[in-house]
Amino acid sequence: MEFSIRALAPAQLSGGAKTGCLVLAVFAGGNLGRAAQAVDKAAMGALRRVLAHGDLAGKAGATLLLQKIPGLAAERVLLVSLGERNEFSVTHFREAVRGAATALKGLGARDAVLPVADFAVSGRGLPWTVRHTVLGIREAFYRFDQLKTQKKAAAPALAAVTLALSGAPVTLQAQAALKEAVATADGADLARTLGNLPPNLCTPAFLADEARKIAKQFKLGIEVLERKDMERLGMGALLAVTAGSRQPPKLIVLRYAGAAKSKKPLVLVGKGITFDTGGISLKPGGEMDEMKFDMSGAGSVLGAIRALAGMRAPVNVIGVVPACENMPDGAATRPGDIVTTMSGQTVEILNTDAEGRLILCDALTYAERFTPDAIVDVATLTGACVIALGHVATGLFANDQKLADEILAAGDDAWDRAWQMPLWEDYQEQLRSNFADMANIGGRPAGSVTAACYLARFTRKMRWAHLDIAGTAWRSGRDKGSTGRPVPLLVRLALRGAGRRS
Ligand code: BES
Ligand code: MN
Ligand code: ZN
Repeated sequence: MEFSIRALAPAQLSGGAKTGCLVLAVFAGGNLGRAAQAVDKAAMGALRRVLAHGDLAGKAGATLLLQKIPGLAAERVLLVSLGERNEFSVTHFREAVRGAATALKGLGARDAVLPVADFAVSGRGLPWTVRHTVLGIREAFYRFDQLKTQKKAAAPALAAVTLALSGAPVTLQAQAALKEAVATADGADLARTLGNLPPNLCTPAFLADEARKIAKQFKLGIEVLERKDMERLGMGALLAVTAGSRQPPKLIVLRYAGAAKSKKPLVLVGKGITFDTGGISLKPGGEMDEMKFDMSGAGSVLGAIRALAGMRAPVNVIGVVPACENMPDGAATRPGDIVTTMSGQTVEILNTDAEGRLILCDALTYAERFTPDAIVDVATLTGACVIALGHVATGLFANDQKLADEILAAGDDAWDRAWQMPLWEDYQEQLRSNFADMANIGGRPAGSVTAACYLARFTRKMRWAHLDIAGTAWRSGRDKGSTGRPVPLLVRLALRGAGRRS
């Protein structure tokens, strides 16, 4: 799908804009947006007459398709409801964009023109509206059907969307927003596809190959550490998780340098468990297939770097992805085993299903060598986080409040929101072990907090934050599939660090 921005005055829109589909915003009660008003005028009241029949529901996202409107060059007009004018919010905006995109998907139109300003939410500028319109449409058009041989839905005809602005000329800011959004959507699509791929195909080696492809396409630095490198580095915790698997583990390091060498990098660390059976502490069978999504942190880190490289962002970012499987086997780690981490601290592995923190602790220690400006890990770490925050907010933990505030702001801006949880010392005692420096589990109470507390023991020398995406990385049930979160948040975080606020 191609996106572009053009200056089109309302009069141009109503008369000459040749397009397969003109998408117009309408508030509940037949309250027309500015573009719709101009079009209605040119069509001698045709829109108002149709609306008077009550065929467009007032609910945000409802749509009504009109054909053959006299006086218009557009082949079709798609009316999209924004809901009540005085209740209009980000949520209604998103429903409207999703509704419009879903309707466009089913049309024969090859292109569409959408006057974006009429969809603007108060308090959010034009660049925001441009970004979220593009991201919303791309999200609705995402498909994962490469493994279906039958009954595939037909590919949509729509190939181009023009965002029409009434005020010429189109600002550089709006153009930058478009470029950012398209690259972010590309990154989110990559994360979604990696998540959706089955665990027999999306192995640690596959993730490493994907990272190599990104490196080649965008000329990035890449290094893939193998088992022998991990042994040499003393990554006893990561090696303990991979012990029961036939798939060789990989530690992927992908570097994008878009800023001066002297600028310290943002380091992103993504949990890459390509399948989590729980190991010897085997998980119950129900929905275990969903543990293919346990590499979503890794997917989002690769997706975010692809996005930043794709838009040539002026930032330095390094992705560090520990990737392996967590399997039961004769060689697998046992509950009670004690291992030495790369940091030198010892861990009693009381539950082999708490494996995410084990691969992350060694990756975090390894990442120290990059002297990060900040380090953010992303992980489907705990079921407890799903209980705490559901599927709306990502759990945020940080040892630096300024970093936490930046992440919260980036999440709000990207509408990929996080919510901060405590990382107080008081919780640390739950990780006490009789036999090693610490245990890898802290009991049932505050399970996502103690998981973060465990990681905090490996990041004391860095400005660090941890994102628990267990509830937000994928959807279950009929709509089962990866969401691509938190790629939009990570991209926004990196850009804010480079000074971009709009
Ligand atoms: N990958 C899981 C966390 C998870 C579970 C995410 C369900 C989303 C849905 C993680 O490796 C895990 O198994 N965590 C355990 C930790 C426990 C053993 C302390 C959990 O949450 O049960
Ligand atoms: Mn697990
Ligand atoms: Zn896991």
